[in-house]
This record gives sequence, structure tokens and C-alpha cells, in this order.
Amino acid sequence: MSTPIKKLRLGIVGLGNMGFSHVGFALNTADIQLTALCDNDPARLEKVREVYFADKPMPVTFSDAMAMIDSGTIDGILISVPHYDHEPITLAAFAKGVHVLCEKPLMVTVQGAKTMIAAWEAGKKRKPDLVFAAMFMQRTWGHWKKIKDLIVSGELGRIVRTTWVVTDWFRTAQYYRSGGWRATWNGEGGGVLTNQSPHNLDLLQWFIGMPEKITAIGGLGKYHDIAVEDEVSATLQYADGSVAHFITSTAESPGTNRLEIVGENGKLVYENNVLTFHRNRVSMKAWSDTTNQGFQGPECWTFPVPFTHHGESGHRLVIQTFARKILHNEPLVAEGPEGIHQVTLTNAMMVSLLQGGKTVSTAQAEEFEGLLAGLKKAELQKQGTKK
Ligand SMILES: NC(=O)c1ccc[n+]([C@@H]2O[C@H](COP(=O)([O-])OP(=O)(O)OC[C@H]3O[C@@H](n4cnc5c(N)ncnc54)[C@H](O)[C@@H]3O)[C@@H](O)[C@H]2O)c1
Repeated sequence: MSTPIKKLRLGIVGLGNMGFSHVGFALNTADIQLTALCDNDPARLEKVREVYFADKPMPVTFSDAMAMIDSGTIDGILISVPHYDHEPITLAAFAKGVHVLCEKPLMVTVQGAKTMIAAWEAGKKRKPDLVFAAMFMQRTWGHWKKIKDLIVSGELGRIVRTTWVVTDWFRTAQYYRSGGWRATWNGEGGGVLTNQSPHNLDLLQWFIGMPEKITAIGGLGKYHDIAVEDEVSATLQYADGSVAHFITSTAESPGTNRLEIVGENGKLVYENNVLTFHRNRVSMKAWSDTTNQGFQGPECWTFPVPFTHHGESGHRLVIQTFARKILHNEPLVAEGPEGIHQVTLTNAMMVSLLQGGKTVSTAQAEEFEGLLAGLKKAELQKQGTKK
């Protein structure tokens, strides 16, 4: 019988904005032994060497993720490369029995996410304890955890309406000019819904589940010289008759980040780091059905809800739970397959938006793949014309 590993031998692929920070998080996590690093840009590896390893030996380095996976130097991989490469790297890792922690979004399309989940299922047949985790670190934040707790415990009662205005993702022309893979159909696969809002969309489905139908309007390059969407307003219809609104933009300054969740027992509002509960003494429905008043709502108490925050960004905690799941079977922050819900919401919104706000079912999210192929082709043709 093999002796159980004490630390997770981790490799990180993609050492850009996010992956560079992941190196620091991994080095500060006792359950991790950072054994390999990979980037196809040698300058990024050099930067990591200068900043983190000036006084200690550098982990073994690779320019090719597949070579790192095949090297036998890692038991788990943290994927923080641009979106389209999440899928092939995940597939290669699971084929080799390497555990995966993937950055958001899981993939650009629902079909891609399904392929990744199928590869995990196949991998588990050979190695039952194979772990697939997603980097949804906002699920560790105190106020979001408290909201989830208040919903699950029934404090709010039946949910009636949820409205999230999250337009504080402001980005300038200079940000988009920094270029590369960003804000292109071929490089990134989407705009504000694929890059900036995945955490919000994951939280939305974590709080209130998945809708049946979506209607979305918005703009492609409405305020920036980009091909992809930079403003979206969506309405979500749920099987139980409740509704949600999701409004996001990279072109509002000052922006807003305000979440309202209304249940029969009252209303939760999160804004400016304050969580407020407007709590009805009796349920709105019970009051409405029985009172002899015509306009007056039930007695309502308004108070701030205390919550505690761990004081970190949360990425390190997700990395730690990934290691502890593998080493000690402790629960993950977010199971990898749960990432498909955010991709489904993103894709369904885009299918609706690209058809001028037509209402679509969430099952129609898969139509995005065909629409995306057309957008990619048109973008390549436009680039060819410009040359
Ligand atoms: N969870 C978060 O808070 C958060 C924040 C920012 C970005 N992200 C996600 O992290 C990922 C990377 O984003 P970023 O902003 O760091 O991008 P980036 O462009 O700054 O970095 C990507 C890095 O990957 C390298 N790379 C690209 N393709 C590669 C390949 N096939 N093999 C090896 N190296 C490769 C590039 O050279 C670059 O260094 C994306 O999925 C993004 O959505 C997550």
C-alpha cells in the first residue's frame, strides 16, 4: 500500500496577473509543496523567479502545460491561463490522474464545460478520489456566506425577487488596448459576462438556483472599441414564479454594486459592505391574505446583519481547501462541475442578447457555441481586412 502524501505537490500553469499571485498564495499554504511552474512566456517565469525565489530554489519550470502534467512532478494543477486553454489542460490532467483546480470561468461555452466534467467522470473511474475544483473564492467572503445562510435557513421565506446591479467593473479604453487575448471572441470568448461577472453569476446561482428562462439586452462594444459585450441587463424567470435581474457593465463610473433579495419574510440588501435585513414581523403573504388594511405592509424591523470576514482575498483559502480535499477529504469551496451554472447563465444571456432580447430557455445556452463560431469567423475576417 502506498503511503499517503503529506503535502500536495502543486504545479501552476499561467503566471500572468492571476497566476503570479497564486504563486504567493501557494507558498503561504502549509498543505502545499509548489513543485512546478509553467508559462509559455519565459519573461513571466523570470519575473516569478526574481520576486519569489531570489533566495530559495525555484520549482522545476516548463513552457508547455502538457509536459508539466506528464513530468510526474505534480499531483495537482492550478490552471490560470486564458479561458480557451482551460479545457485542453484540464482534459490532459484528468487523463493522467492529476487533480485540477481551474480558474473561472470553467470554460467559454457550456459544451466545453460539459467536456471537462465528462473527462473528470472518466478520470474518476480510474482514480476514484480524483478532485475537480473551481476558483470561486468569493464564496468564502463573510457577507456572501451570511446571505447564503439566511436563504438556506429559511429566514427570508419564499424568494420573490432578486436584483443585482453590479456595474462597478469599470474598465477604460487603455485597459482594453492592453490587448492580447482580452475582449476578443477568438482570444477570450466574451466580455463582461465571461471575464468580469463570473463570480457574481456563480454567487447568484449559489443563492437562488438556476432560472428556467432568460431575457437579456445589452451592447457589443457599446462604450469601448471592443468586439465583445460591455453592458448587459438580464431578467431571469424561475420555475416557482420568482424573478431576478442582473445588470452589469464595464462602462459606468461611478458604478454600483447592490444586491437585493426579497422574500416573503422581508428584504436583504447588500451594498457598500453593509448587509441590511428589513424583516417582516409576519410574512408578506400571510399579512396580505388576512389584514383588513388596504395599503399598509406588515410591521418591519430594519437592522444590520453582523458577519465576519477572514480578511483575505479568498484565493489562498480555495487553494488550501483543494489541497485538504486531496489530502484529508475535507470539503471544497466550489466543486468544479458547479462552474457549469455560471457558464450556462453567461451563454444563455448572450444567446438572448445576440437575438435582440429574445426570451430563451437556459437549455438554449448551448446555442451560444454556434453564434460564437460566427463571431470568431467575422472577427478573423475583420482582422484580415485591416492587415
Ligand atoms: N479568480 C480571480 O479573481 C481572477 C482574477 C483575474 C483573472 N482570473 C482568471 O485567471 C485566468 C488568467 O487571467 P490573467 O488575468 O492572469 O491573464 P494574463 O494574460 O495576465 O495571464 C495569463 C498567463 O498565461 C500564460 N499562458 C497563456 N497560454 C498559456 C499556455 N497554453 N500554457 C502556458 N502558459 C500560458 C501567458 O503567458 C500569461 O502569463 C483567466 O481564466 C481569468 O479569467 C481570475
